Amino acid sequence: MTILESPALPSHSDEALSVWRSQLNAAPQNRARVLVERIRKQESVLTDRLVKVYGQHPNVDALVQDLIQAAVQASLARAEDLWQLDLHRQAHPDWHQQGAVGYTAYVDQFAGNLQGITEKIDYLKSLGVTYLHLLPFFKAAEGPNDGGFAVAHFEEVAPTLGTQDDLLQLTQALRKAGISLCSDFVLNHVAQDHEWALKAKSGDLNYQNYFCLAKNTEEVAAWEKTLPQIFPDTAPGNFTFQPELNAWVWTTFYPYQWDLNYANPKVFLEVVSAMMRVANMGIEAFRLDSTGFLWKRIGTNSQNQPEVHCLLQALRALMEIACPGVLLKAEAIMPTQQLPPYFGLGESSGPECHLAYHSSLMAASWVALAEQDVSLLRSVMAQTPKVPQGSSWLSYVRCHDDIGWNVLKPDLEALGDITHERLIEASQFFAGLTAGSYARGAAFQTTHTRAVHGTNGMASALTGLESAQTPEELSLAIDRLLLLQGLSFFMGGLPLLYMGDELGLGNTTKEELGLRNGPDGRELHRPYWSEDKANQRHIAGSMASRIFSKIQQMAQLRKIHVAFKGNADVGLLANVHPQILGLQRNQDLIGLFNFSNQAIDLKFSDLGLGSIESIDSTSDSPTDLRLNSYQFMWINIASVASPVVLIH
Ligand code: GLC
Repeated sequence: MTILESPALPSHSDEALSVWRSQLNAAPQNRARVLVERIRKQESVLTDRLVKVYGQHPNVDALVQDLIQAAVQASLARAEDLWQLDLHRQAHPDWHQQGAVGYTAYVDQFAGNLQGITEKIDYLKSLGVTYLHLLPFFKAAEGPNDGGFAVAHFEEVAPTLGTQDDLLQLTQALRKAGISLCSDFVLNHVAQDHEWALKAKSGDLNYQNYFCLAKNTEEVAAWEKTLPQIFPDTAPGNFTFQPELNAWVWTTFYPYQWDLNYANPKVFLEVVSAMMRVANMGIEAFRLDSTGFLWKRIGTNSQNQPEVHCLLQALRALMEIACPGVLLKAEAIMPTQQLPPYFGLGESSGPECHLAYHSSLMAASWVALAEQDVSLLRSVMAQTPKVPQGSSWLSYVRCHDDIGWNVLKPDLEALGDITHERLIEASQFFAGLTAGSYARGAAFQTTHTRAVHGTNGMASALTGLESAQTPEELSLAIDRLLLLQGLSFFMGGLPLLYMGDELGLGNTTKEELGLRNGPDGRELHRPYWSEDKANQRHIAGSMASRIFSKIQQMAQLRKIHVAFKGNADVGLLANVHPQILGLQRNQDLIGLFNFSNQAIDLKFSDLGLGSIESIDSTSDSPTDLRLNSYQFMWINIASVASPVVLIH
């Protein structure tokens, strides 16, 4: 068995067709009617995309009917409240674009277990959160498991975090509070102790076909020639020898995470069916983990292949049948140039993901902070396309992963920096290796001091909160952190806060790091929640309260201001100042972000917005603006004659 050689499809399309037809006949009429309509709408795109991927197989029709059957079954099993939610959301496709604010956390670090998360709902509400992404909470591999991303069971809640009942209760409580729960769904791989991998190891050929196996070192070498490495230090290479199989299994990430073989249509059928069952637990959004890696092609980097997008569009079509109220979010940490297809703007155009991480914007904002120059940020913004109706960028400052610098390489190359010197310098700066650097992060996946790969550390450590010695230094650090959040909250359709950043929570302590499983450097920014720190948000003037209250204020503004409703069109204001990023959101809002440690005066008239007579800000002259060091401003220009500063 070689990679991408996949077994023939089953040839029972008539059987599946008659099964779902009779299921619909037996179903309540109102549901059956709606489902027939949804199938009618989605069937052709589903067939088209699957023919593009599996066209060489004789029985693609059978696959289509099997998938529709799975979708019908899942939809008929949907609880009444979720069914109603789907109907409502179908009628209001911009339901998730009403000033959304996201929050992401590990269940255990944030609240111990799922029940503990239920107790955190009031806190999340007070912060204005409408979307909660909990990092993997389904059963993970025994031992090291990549923070839960080595999934041993798609549908069983990790016993240390709770039960399925806890999950159901949590999703209901969150929904009542107006918060959608997002769950990871790891599409690319399963843990080596997942049932499929165990069966494959035991000699079951059917399950061996679920994985990408190379027979010998020559085959491995042929693939490796063009493959990058995700964890070059801790998990070099992309294949792991499995003595039981006498073959090399494709393991893009850690050796215990086995890549699935999507050239085998059964894999797609099983994965999608599992996802639809998980949706029925009340999950309202899926973070499609490592989406870019699903299709392998010799001679390429096996990322972002056209088949990935056909599969995602087929997945979207099936979700539109089974649970149209559920969002799909692409976790494709790729250069900006590769992202539009995740919104369905690629070769095969059509609905794909509702959300995608804007990792280049995130990384470029950190470069801008280190350089006190916004040129790279500006060029990333200039390449950021307008996304289709009903979809949005997810913006963020930090998350559970490192800040990956590689996504910026094409942008730098376009600016003539082919050695990526600026990234090397930024990574050194945030590792605290540059003279005068306030940052207390660490390089990721390299022991080389001139590292580019990634940077670890909590936002507070990277912006100088941990190293600040004086009140002035502390204020500057807070301003830096808020500047980045100000940009994320301004730019995104969904700004995502990483647990603790709203309080200035620091890096994981040294003692705690010593107790963690495995050598993964990302543990540096996976600290435990601190109740003490959270309580400080009530003490006026404290660091926690200064950060928390500003973020709260931004979340509020997103709820009330029209510019944050519906699809956003965020464009660059040309030539503002080399150290100030100027953005315009729809017709009525501009954002100015000063990345320098100096105050900068701007003439409002230079922004090219038309004639300005007065401005309600702190500046002396009505037509002038002063942005202090690391200050940002959101300005309502709905009435160009008298703009109003909303936040600064
Ligand atoms: C995603 C996750 C990351 C994980 C990887 C492999 O990129 O964010 O934490 O290591 O997938 O599952």
